[in-house]
Amino acid sequence: MTPARPQPAPRKTTGTSAARQAFIDAMRQVAATVTVVTTDGPAGQAGATVSAFTSLSADPPSVLVCLKADSRIATSVCGNGVFCVNVLPEDAAEVARAFAGAFDHHQPDRFEGIEMTATEFGPILPRATAFTCSLNHRHVHGSHTICIGDVTGISNAGEKPLTYMSGSFHIVRPQQS
Ligand SMILES: Cc1cc2nc3c(=O)[nH]c(=O)nc-3n(C[C@H](O)[C@H](O)[C@H](O)COP(=O)(O)O)c2cc1C
Repeated sequence: MTPARPQPAPRKTTGTSAARQAFIDAMRQVAATVTVVTTDGPAGQAGATVSAFTSLSADPPSVLVCLKADSRIATSVCGNGVFCVNVLPEDAAEVARAFAGAFDHHQPDRFEGIEMTATEFGPILPRATAFTCSLNHRHVHGSHTICIGDVTGISNAGEKPLTYMSGSFHIVRPQQS
């Protein structure tokens, strides 16, 4: 480890826009795995790039994703009661951009041209490690809906994951020992 710099005193994070910005700035330094959450069913097929994904418990196998409450993906996941978390491989930044809506203006169907595998929970994307989920619980907090899913199936692609931090995509490498 490099020598420690003096630790800045924690700033209050309630109330002010400066405090909100301090939260955003600090979170930019948190590396997150990039996934595409998909869903299918009566409420329609949808997919969106999501980095707010975490393992919740192995007993029972369950995960959570945080989706902007007024987004199409949140509405569709809650309407269908199922979803699929696709952990993207490290060379899939373009797919992540597409499912974040970067090309929606000229290609509104984000799934167009993708060789996906259909499941009753939502499509599995190529070379993604996929967790198919049944929505167990949802909880709205602030701007986002926390969706807890019981994992019903896993397709482990064994790929290195794409990550995101400081506003750009990154690749994970082991430390030299
Ligand atoms: C790297 C990255 C990570 C993202 N993570 C999330 C997330 O965790 N939750 C979320 O609601 N939106 C997240 N977004 C934004 C959504 O992908 C974007 O708003 C998308 O258009 C939502 O799809 P929809 O408009 O069809 O609902 C992320 C975008 C990027 C580029």
